Amino acid sequence: MSYSLATDLTTQQKRINDFLAEKLNHYEAFHSPLINAMEYAVLLGGKRVRPFLIYATGRMLGVPLEKLDHSAAAMESIHAYSLVHDDLPAMDDDKLRRGKPTCHIAFDEATATLAGDALQSFAFELLVTDPHISDKEKVAQVRELTSAAGAKGMCLGQSLDLIAENKSVNLEELELIHRNKTGALILSSVMMGFNLSDYSQNLAIKQPLVNYAKAIGLAFQVQDDILDVIGETDKIGKTVGSDENLNKSTYPKLLGLDGAKQKAETLYQTALSSLEQLPFDTTALKELADFIVKREN
Ligand code: IPE
Ligand code: IPE
Ligand code: MG
Ligand code: MG
Ligand code: MG
Repeated sequence: MSYSLATDLTTQQKRINDFLAEKLNHYEAFHSPLINAMEYAVLLGGKRVRPFLIYATGRMLGVPLEKLDHSAAAMESIHAYSLVHDDLPAMDDDKLRRGKPTCHIAFDEATATLAGDALQSFAFELLVTDPHISDKEKVAQVRELTSAAGAKGMCLGQSLDLIAENKSVNLEELELIHRNKTGALILSSVMMGFNLSDYSQNLAIKQPLVNYAKAIGLAFQVQDDILDVIGETDKIGKTVGSDENLNKSTYPKLLGLDGAKQKAETLYQTALSSLEQLPFDTTALKELADFIVKREN
């Protein structure tokens, strides 16, 4: 039977949703609005692209899915925290996320801030309590996720993104923002799948995967910028035109819509040629790259 990304994506989405719900359930005994806000931020919707990348990369390299669950959940938890904070009034001040009121609107700013903080702690708790991986592998995963999420990765990108509001930045500066705010977690997702495989010390396997992940990571944010211009609120679940409102630096703003689309296409081709260097069945990763540049949400 031929491969279907849609089916695979649905299967892995269900897997990660069930896993996250089960893990968060342990906190419910505390009966706090904080846990409700965490669940609101992490359980309701989302494409689960980063967990999918961890599962698809690991699976391609022979890792059993059970060994990838905690890493996938940790990554999605960091992603969810980044979105909650990204939407706060102090940052993008957005009111709609995944088709619903943003966390600080549904709860309040303090609760949303703390839910983001607690989701970050939850991510590392998941990694260090993973019963399927060795202590050495835990250190590798924690090291991977801390460096991708922090001040040399996602947080750095988010800070540069805010500084670049109401300014004209050049292409190189914009690329640095996007590679950090969004690319870092996407690269790290591929690496977290790779790290748990028998190939974790094999640079000939690692390098093409890094190149693939960097290309789709940047393409992901280019397409996000494009959808902020030409997307439909019903589909993207976010307010269209939010970037323009905030006078953000984006690819369509710098290159025009066609230029941005061309950039996404070039990155897609780079991703495909990187995969061609791997001696594995790369169908799922290839299809995901296609999905990233063609997606409408
Ligand atoms: C949105 O990420 C924020 C970016 C980093 C571009 P996603 O488009 O992956 O958001 P969800 O998780 O599917 O809602
Ligand atoms: C967000 O970029 C990146 C992170 C959340 C780290 P955007 O601000 O463009 O994401 P959206 O469009 O609000 O999802
Ligand atoms: Mg933002
Ligand atoms: Mg935003
Ligand atoms: Mg955006």
